[in-house]
Amino acid sequence: MILLTGATGKTGGETAKALAARGVKARALVRNLEKAAALKAAGIELVHGDVGDAASVSKALAGIDRLFLLLPNGEQQLAHEKQVVDLAREAGVRHIVKMSSMESMVNATAPIPQMHWASEQYIRASGMAWTMLRPNFFMQNFLASAKSIKENKTFSLPMGDGRTAMADTRDIGAVAAEALAGKGHEGKSYDITGPEVLTFHQVAERFSAVLGTKISYVPADPAAYLAILKRVLPEWHANAVSALFGEIAAGEVLPHLSDTVRRLLGREPVSLEQFIRDHIAAFR
Ligand SMILES: NC(=O)c1ccc[n+]([C@@H]2O[C@H](COP(=O)([O-])OP(=O)(O)OC[C@H]3O[C@@H](n4cnc5c(N)ncnc54)[C@H](OP(=O)(O)O)[C@@H]3O)[C@@H](O)[C@H]2O)c1
Repeated sequence: MILLTGATGKTGGETAKALAARGVKARALVRNLEKAAALKAAGIELVHGDVGDAASVSKALAGIDRLFLLLPNGEQQLAHEKQVVDLAREAGVRHIVKMSSMESMVNATAPIPQMHWASEQYIRASGMAWTMLRPNFFMQNFLASAKSIKENKTFSLPMGDGRTAMADTRDIGAVAAEALAGKGHEGKSYDITGPEVLTFHQVAERFSAVLGTKISYVPADPAAYLAILKRVLPEWHANAVSALFGEIAAGEVLPHLSDTVRRLLGREPVSLEQFIRDHIAAFR
């Protein structure tokens, strides 16, 4: 039996869908049962709890042999991931599939990739089998700019001339499901990207072509963007996102293309054009 964390979120939700489509039995630890109604309808067993609450995590881990560990970014993420790993080992889990990121490296300087790297090392040292999923920037992040794209024909991010090899969370979820339910993924570290490396100016060109109207990318001033982030996120999280975006803008985390989707799923990764077409009502 597989346990999923983060299953009501973007990537965890796609992972749950992909497992259900494969007919694989899974359980999800969720903190809001109402929000998880679609998971239940898809046949996913639900356990109510919180990753910071050891008792609820242990309850969810009963009878589990494979764990999908996805936690949202925050000051407590590393502490929570380590606690879940310890509880998983005690519960007899034999394989952890961890949601990391492509920027996670030994010499990472921004807090989010540093945290992912530390968590990856903790899992590697745990004695359990592991698979690391290391996606690049999510295409779904643009849904946060949908209102601006629709109403103002612009989107603004502090990415300067930075480039990413953005990936669709549907591909990431499908890769996660294969890592959990397929064979031979233990001890593997999978970078996950879309089919292209793009600047944000090129992203605007893709939006313009698909929507049939000129969409512009307006590079945001990093300090002004951080002030906006601080209005909606806790201080640590706002600073951490700002630091990561700053590294992308500065070209310090140069993306490369990976063939993980092609190799594991036997098909091409979703393109940005396809992502836009699939969410056209949000953008037009
Ligand atoms: N965004 C990117 O471009 C990108 C790229 C590479 C890697 N990543 C990594 O991806 C991860 C985030 O994935 P995502 O964007 O798919 O997540 P997401 O959509 O933000 O969803 C987060 C999930 O975690 C759950 N959750 C939050 N706090 C919890 C708690 N205390 N106990 C139990 N569950 C809790 C949420 O539940 P609720 O529904 O109840 O809130 C939700 O299901 C991060 O680790 C990030 O570093 C992101």
